[in-house]
Amino acid sequence: MSRNVRITLHPSFDVLAATTAARLITRLLDVQSERGEATVVLTGGSVGIATLKAVAESPARLAVDWSKVNFWFGDDRFVETASADRNAGQAAAALLDHIDVDPARVHLMAASDEVANLAAATADYTSQLAEAARLEWENDDDADSPQVPTVPRFDVLLLGLGPDAHIASLFPDLAGIRTQGVPVVAVNNSPKPPPLRVSLTLEAINSAQEIWIVAAGADKAAAVCLGLAGANPVQVPASGAHGVGKTLWLIDQDAAAKVPEQLMRRDS
Ligand code: 6PG
Repeated sequence: MSRNVRITLHPSFDVLAATTAARLITRLLDVQSERGEATVVLTGGSVGIATLKAVAESPARLAVDWSKVNFWFGDDRFVETASADRNAGQAAAALLDHIDVDPARVHLMAASDEVANLAAATADYTSQLAEAARLEWENDDDADSPQVPTVPRFDVLLLGLGPDAHIASLFPDLAGIRTQGVPVVAVNNSPKPPPLRVSLTLEAINSAQEIWIVAAGADKAAAVCLGLAGANPVQVPASGAHGVGKTLWLIDQDAAAKVPEQLMRRDS
């Protein structure tokens, strides 16, 4: 886990979404040129989805071989497939339906009309991740892990940020943020509606090569400040997010309002 934390300020929500989209396209291109494919973990939330919409509107999107991009989700709501609350549905409307993805490379958390219950959805995603990790490990001659990991390589993992500093569906002081030893957790008491969700755990999130935390608005200012100040992750989940290679905080001016100058310049 790296402490390579970078903070980038943006003048507005729209500029944040547009530049995060440009970064994502560039990151996917760089990884594809090196590895032939790339893997991104998407997030729900206003900035996360606006970023996907900005990708769909960017001419640069045409440079990416989307059929060689693996899509995963950091969390999703355990509601019906057609519900407007589904992150998968919002991501499809914003981007996935508008690019040439390989359906076999789009990995969704099960909806409530697809499996019997939340436990089944959690088990299903755990299996999807394990299968992808097994295939990757078997095909990677210089795999540095002596045993099959529980999740595949995540080249970039996007996280929205709640006003309470939650990330994915890991909320302060609740069971999810405390869960260890497994990559996926069932959430049945989300303070942010809807209450039932499936989420990656902090361990799975922190396996990503790069984590990008995206936040905009004055209501996120306290969460950004606490997240950057290194508070206890159980109380401030965002402070526990650290990518293997890099952690980017991509924020707008309003969300940065409470961050002390010395933290803004942090170079660690
Ligand atoms: C979810 C998200 C959640 C979201 C934050 C920020 O499924 O609700 O994954 O973690 O990213 O709550 O959402 P806003 O940007 O809409 O405030």
